[in-house]
Amino acid sequence: MNLKPETITEIESLIPKYPQKRSAMLPILHAVQKDQGYISKEAMEWVAEKTETRPIDVYGVVSFYPFFREHPIGKHYIRLCRTLSCALSGSYNLLEAIKREFGCDLNKTSDDGLFTLEFAECLASCGSGPVMMIDDDLYERLTEEKIKQIAADYRARAAQSKA
Ligand code: FES
Repeated sequence: MNLKPETITEIESLIPKYPQKRSAMLPILHAVQKDQGYISKEAMEWVAEKTETRPIDVYGVVSFYPFFREHPIGKHYIRLCRTLSCALSGSYNLLEAIKREFGCDLNKTSDDGLFTLEFAECLASCGSGPVMMIDDDLYERLTEEKIKQIAADYRARAAQSKA
């Protein structure tokens, strides 16, 4: 496992806080995902060892919670809000436009590795939906036109950084 030293320190300090090692599994998984971007099979085996459980137990937890990812994400992480206010203001209707403009399917990464698209629950901007976040940037009152522009901007920046 190729974790950063600070992540290992964090995990080592977490374990004694729990009466049983297995109870530390969730915070350890969060720390691993923060470090690696996702939780690989190798990471699940490592967490099983740390928590004195079996890899299948760790897999059960990872696959149960939607916020854990089993695959690496692209360079930019797109999250489209699907909670009530955004759903009522049309977020589901924009999904096709986002898929088309960013070139990736839901819960998948684009072929060029630039974008990963997922649904998210409320992004705390309910009065200005539909809303999506890309990495740490919030995009509000989305329309197909805006999505087209945002995708074009990201692609232009990506092309610039390659040049
Ligand atoms: S419902 Fe979408 S931001 Fe709250």
